Amino acid sequence: MGKLISFEGIDGSGKSTHAARLHQRLQQEGYRAEIFREPGGTDLSEEIRTILLHYKGELDPVAELLLFSAARAQLVAQKVKPLLEQDCIVILDRFFDSTTAYQGYARKAVDPGQINEINKVASCGITPDLTYYLRLSPEAAAARLTDEKDRLEKSGVGFYKLVQQGFDKLASEESRFVIIDAEKDIKDIHQEIWEHFEKLNVQPG
Ligand code: ADP
Ligand code: TYD
Repeated sequence: MGKLISFEGIDGSGKSTHAARLHQRLQQEGYRAEIFREPGGTDLSEEIRTILLHYKGELDPVAELLLFSAARAQLVAQKVKPLLEQDCIVILDRFFDSTTAYQGYARKAVDPGQINEINKVASCGITPDLTYYLRLSPEAAAARLTDEKDRLEKSGVGFYKLVQQGFDKLASEESRFVIIDAEKDIKDIHQEIWEHFEKLNVQPG
């Protein structure tokens, strides 16, 4: 089996930057590695992403939860599971912890036990080996996001504070979580990320 590495944190915390850097470094060092973003990573999941980020009407919280989960189920079945079976390192820019924090803790779409069950079904029981949680204040993260805001990014600082509390709770409960101070310099953060990856003791090839 390969290794599954996820990046989590609020919008603007630096996940995409560091997921891409880790992917590039792994390839340079001779590892077989693939990277996907959530929601997304397959044709169907990207179509669902467009709905989730840009739907103009009122999206019911349970419908939102199930759409994120549907996008994930397709990605896991079509890409993540087969690649792990081929001993590949799979990097995910978000995974089911985002659902726990956003749809569970912040949106309260359903109760926590139900979120856990839905997450298990959507991810086919696959759990990350390592989860980098890039932790940054919602105010600092908002200041980094200069592009036009998508549907979720319009939710405001109060919503992101709840999301962050959700991630903090997960980080305190799950040993696979590594908390990264996302205020730091990009280069220093990458170095820290690399040092944690090395502890997994995976050989290139
Ligand atoms: P996310 O994927 O979590 O939304 P991004 O990686 O897209 O975050 O980063 C959001 C913005 O912040 C980008 O413009 C990126 O270049 C910048 N950025 C990322 N990490 C840092 C950092 N450590 N310090 C300053 N700016 C950063
Ligand atoms: P994206 O642009 O990929 O995130 P970021 O701005 O952090 O780079 O947008 C994905 C959005 O979807 C983001 O606001 C978080 C949200 N999301 C959920 O609410 N639940 C989920 O399960 C996932 C995967 C994402």
